[in-house]
Amino acid sequence: MFTIEKNTYSEEETIQLGRAFAAQLTTTDIVAIHGDLGSGKTEFVKGICEFFKVEEIVTSPTFTIVNKYNGIKDQGQITIYHIDLYRIEKDSELLEIGFEEYLNDSSAISLIEWAEKTTLLPENIFAVNIYLDDSNDNQRVISIKSPREINIGM
Ligand SMILES: Nc1ncnc2c1ncn2[C@@H]1O[C@H](COP(=O)(O)OP(=O)(O)OP(=O)(O)O)[C@@H](O)[C@H]1O
Ligand SMILES: [Mg+2]
Repeated sequence: MFTIEKNTYSEEETIQLGRAFAAQLTTTDIVAIHGDLGSGKTEFVKGICEFFKVEEIVTSPTFTIVNKYNGIKDQGQITIYHIDLYRIEKDSELLEIGFEEYLNDSSAISLIEWAEKTTLLPENIFAVNIYLDDSNDNQRVISIKSPREINIGM
């Protein structure tokens, strides 16, 4: 595992970090995103989606569980699944909605908020942790663990 840690001081900086990180992603990658309510998971996802030129509005899919976006990578179409497991209580609920099919979609990248709610994720995926800083309302510490070496150049 490789770990990168960055501080951000505004929503825009977190979006920018998401955009830079996205340049390292490829289809079949899965990104587990952890962090307290309001820490910035969805902002980070917005940055990733910006990089892939997603035109749909990116918001937490709290009631639908999964938002599916169309993205573009290297002139080709890709799918981005934006999944929010906040309301999920058991893995069986996820199996019912075809969670594993999303993860195994060979033309998609899966971004998963509240990923700790399931045990169905494979090992060796990306894990992003966003920590609030008690001393500064707008500061976040963002750690990115990756299964392969990445360079986000920031
Ligand atoms: N450095 C920062 N990075 C990201 N968001 C920030 C930062 N500073 C302040 N914010 C604010 O924090 C909030 C983050 O909201 P966001 O919806 O991304 O959180 P979340 O982790 O997805 O929450 P939830 O668990 O409810 O889905 C936004 O209101 C944003 O403006
Ligand atoms: Mg969210």
